[in-house]
Amino acid sequence: MSEHKADKGKGIWALPVFRAFAPPVETPPEEREKSSSEIVPWDLPGTPLRTKASKAARGFYAPAGVGAPTTTRQAEILNTALIGPPTGTKGVVNGRDVLSRTSISHDPVTAYNSSPREVSSPNTVVMGDVGAGKSSFVKTVCVLRPLLLQNRRAVIFDKKDQAGEGEYSNVVRRYGYEPIRFTADGTGTRLNLMDPMIARGTGVKGQARLLNIITRLGRGDQSLNEWEEEALRAALLMTLNRFEGGRTPVLADVLPNLGVVDPERYESLSPDARDKLHQAGLSVRWTLNGLLDEYAGLLDGETSSEVDLTGKLTSFDISQLPDDGPAVPVVMAIGNMWMLGRLRNERGWATTVVYEEGWHMIGGPSAQLIKSNQKLSRGLGISNVFVMHKGTDIPRDSPGITIVQEAQSIYTFRQGRPEDAQWAQETFGFAPETAQTIEKLRDGYYIFKYGSHPETHVQHIRSQWEIDVTNTDEALAAAAGRE
Ligand SMILES: Nc1ncnc2c1ncn2[C@@H]1O[C@H](COP(=O)(O)OP(=O)(O)O)[C@@H](O)[C@H]1O
Ligand SMILES: [Mg+2]
Repeated sequence: MSEHKADKGKGIWALPVFRAFAPPVETPPEEREKSSSEIVPWDLPGTPLRTKASKAARGFYAPAGVGAPTTTRQAEILNTALIGPPTGTKGVVNGRDVLSRTSISHDPVTAYNSSPREVSSPNTVVMGDVGAGKSSFVKTVCVLRPLLLQNRRAVIFDKKDQAGEGEYSNVVRRYGYEPIRFTADGTGTRLNLMDPMIARGTGVKGQARLLNIITRLGRGDQSLNEWEEEALRAALLMTLNRFEGGRTPVLADVLPNLGVVDPERYESLSPDARDKLHQAGLSVRWTLNGLLDEYAGLLDGETSSEVDLTGKLTSFDISQLPDDGPAVPVVMAIGNMWMLGRLRNERGWATTVVYEEGWHMIGGPSAQLIKSNQKLSRGLGISNVFVMHKGTDIPRDSPGITIVQEAQSIYTFRQGRPEDAQWAQETFGFAPETAQTIEKLRDGYYIFKYGSHPETHVQHIRSQWEIDVTNTDEALAAAAGRE
């Protein structure tokens, strides 16, 4: 302000009366990133009202600042499908509305806890092709930015390998934590299927359900029949009774009890039925035996001490586990159940749990776990973020579909295949023409929808610091000598 005044007082405009009529002094446009889509108002010719060119030349008219081309609400008319209502400023900045250029703010936890509720579920789905910008988005908008809010924490199941470790390792280390590494060769972290923390969260029932799902995963998603379920339940109870007051039981302690038919419990059974139960128990035993054998270092023994959620940021680095086979979904399932028990003691915190390659949780039998624990997990302040490539693989009538449909914060990145884009449009209730937009979205652009609001086309914008921390091709860049 004071600088302007000093400039104004030049020539005749410095004289007492003239001073009041001095033309405005042009302020140099700020140094800003020149982008072809950005409109810089003071470079534009001005409004037609500036009828006298000579006056205009002398700067008698104020600069015709056009500002943003429109507000979100006005732009709704331009393309009703892609302009949602303005989001307000609650939560964290998600990006910029492509048409109105206003900022979009949203945070599933804030929206879920506001009154009245803006969303009925804190769960989030992020969908899109490889390389469309999902992880960069999740790292910033779902992990880093909400950590600035009070009592917030994030847990990540980090699946993508980047130079020998998970792609979130960088992010986690910046916060001063070490990723929890899992390997299939016995050198990494262990998770105990029988950890008492699991029963603390969901009871013995939950523990039985987890054992059931793990067996199912070990068999390539073939479900257990009722005989096998009964045998598994009986073996679990037998193990828990035996170890009550003693050391923590582990999976290897359950195995010998599978196939044992308790004479008292099954007194009324015919010899044939007992034999059938015995055989059912054995068939479960062979499956679990196979799992233990294959992933010895992962599942045998008590949960490693580094598995803890004391910090604000925790990553379960599962990037070194084999892609095929049940290791990844097994760790996700046990980790999920373990967390439900662990968070029981810590009310008042909200935890964002990110499942990169969320398909392992949603597309397979583990979806059942998420679904049955949904109420508990909301009560504990958990907001799940499922990151997926496409939805077309999720069986139509599976619990996984229900989870996706119930999620209330949807971020759809580019899906190049028309059938995938179509799937997203139908499942999330986007306008019909949005399917085409989804096929052509650029990296870092997405269709955002929350609650029952119509969708918006948004550009995700990262600060330089965020780009440095989150870029996945950093390793490649370093190798190419660009760093
Ligand atoms: N907001 C953005 N703006 C511009 N480019 C981006 C943006 N987000 C991501 N990208 C580019 O896309 C690349 C892949 O992003 P990534 O998040 O790893 O995709 P995905 O997880 O969907 O496979 C990044 O390395 C980056 O170069
Ligand atoms: Mg990714």
